[in-house]
Amino acid sequence: AFSSDVTALGVSLSDLRRTPACSGPLPALKHTDSHTVLIRTDLLQPGDVPEPYPSPDKLQDCWDDTHVKMPCSQKNLFPVDRTNVQSRWDLIKKALSVPFRSSHDVKDAILKYNTGQAKGWNFAALDLYCKSLQASEAQQMFGELLPAMTQLALRAPSLLTQPIPLLRTQRCRSITLSQEQVSCLLANAFFCTLPRRNSQRTEFSNYPNINFSRLFESPFKSKQEKLKTLLCYFKRITQQRPCGLITYTRQCLRSSPSWSSSGKQFSKLRISLEGTIEDQGYGMLQVDFANRFVGGGVTGSGLVQEEIRFLINPELIASRLFTEALDDNECLIITGTEQFSRYSGYSQTYRWDGNHDDQTPRDEWQRRCTEIVAIDALHYSNFLEQFHPENMRRELNKAYCGFFRPGVQAENLSAVATGNWGCGAFGGDKRLKAVLQMMAAAEAERDLMYFTFGDKDLLTDVHRIHTLITSSQATVGSVFGLLLQYYECVCKETTRDKPQESLYCFLSEHL
Ligand code: AR6
Repeated sequence: AFSSDVTALGVSLSDLRRTPACSGPLPALKHTDSHTVLIRTDLLQPGDVPEPYPSPDKLQDCWDDTHVKMPCSQKNLFPVDRTNVQSRWDLIKKALSVPFRSSHDVKDAILKYNTGQAKGWNFAALDLYCKSLQASEAQQMFGELLPAMTQLALRAPSLLTQPIPLLRTQRCRSITLSQEQVSCLLANAFFCTLPRRNSQRTEFSNYPNINFSRLFESPFKSKQEKLKTLLCYFKRITQQRPCGLITYTRQCLRSSPSWSSSGKQFSKLRISLEGTIEDQGYGMLQVDFANRFVGGGVTGSGLVQEEIRFLINPELIASRLFTEALDDNECLIITGTEQFSRYSGYSQTYRWDGNHDDQTPRDEWQRRCTEIVAIDALHYSNFLEQFHPENMRRELNKAYCGFFRPGVQAENLSAVATGNWGCGAFGGDKRLKAVLQMMAAAEAERDLMYFTFGDKDLLTDVHRIHTLITSSQATVGSVFGLLLQYYECVCKETTRDKPQESLYCFLSEHL
């Protein structure tokens, strides 16, 4: 019998696999055609800060369509007048070497090497943040933190000595960087030095924003809290150099499973009313409820699941520099990021809640055992749309792309930690999405840990439907058949905004 104080249902937590306990051995870390490694793998040691590869005297400068355009490139030029150009990096070095005494100085520096678009930039959030500081905090910010951040940004040519490939659409490719290299990229993003990234009308129009200009604008409370969260990160990594690695992998599905004929059985499910993906999902594959432009509005105004995750694990933000918008058959997997901040609240009520000391163990590649996958659901404004077979197939393939790990044995795969994917800002139906995620997890041979984020009815409903599916030994294919039938017999027939019979009623009758 169900009592009102039940907070979790399904298998027990100890039945779900987590990394590093479940992981198989990793191959040696090495540079290949599809995996760019920007550090000296031969010197990699636990507790040591990794060395960039190649060494700084062999810096490789590259300015083409397949690599990140770096601020320190010789090709990064700044127009002086109609006929003359100068090195933009020289300008950046000069601007960032002048001590800052106020937020206006920061703004003035940033505007020295940014023109055009930058004329309209507004620094209200940064101004307010600086005004709100106590004298000792202001001393810390202007006397220590900002100088350390400018120095870090200016180390780009000695830290990032190899061109960073772009993770372009329909290409499977990985990049492994040290946390220190990532911090240097983020310091450059903070000071808005990344070239050709301020306008939508460049070769990067299909990439997310990376320069932090929009973070500084508008005087809202949420912007203050975002700034606090990111400055906490910069404080931490400038006080102590981080020593791990992070891998960013773009995974593309070459062919999608045949959902109608799949004979796979459903996997285990645990469902919980309480907890979050990032806290209770440690060691599991953690789902980022993403935008196709990864990170969504993290540097702008968004502040829901994905943006919060990118704020507390800021190394995720670096993916925006090189990850082209995700297509229907693609996802981005990020392994090794560290959580630096705690938070409370959500969306408008989001607040930075201090340092987080991340104790997640590291793998043989010195990456934190935190695997996050960005999968973007479709945005629905009309409820019935999502039951259209093409849309259900799209979401199944997207989730499957995120969960599937080619070549990895099922017993080495951790459970997937997920929840109401696509069902907040993107307006999807939690009950349909839960079934679709169960199917994708079954197809990828992984168990599921589902966080309902406080939704009590969902807890019992999803658990009941999962029990019904498994006890009737329904397969992924047979459930997909029922979803198609539901669309044909119920959704297509309705004259209202919502179907007359709910999906779970229909499934319960037909299973
Ligand atoms: N752990 C578990 N569940 C959560 C958590 C958490 N930490 N946070 C929120 N939820 P939403 P979407 C639940 O709206 O609909 C961003 O701007 C909570 O019930 O973030 O896929 C992206 O960049 C919440 O309502 O995801 C995209 O543009 C639900 O998950 C867009 O939002 C959905 O969270 C994606 O929107």
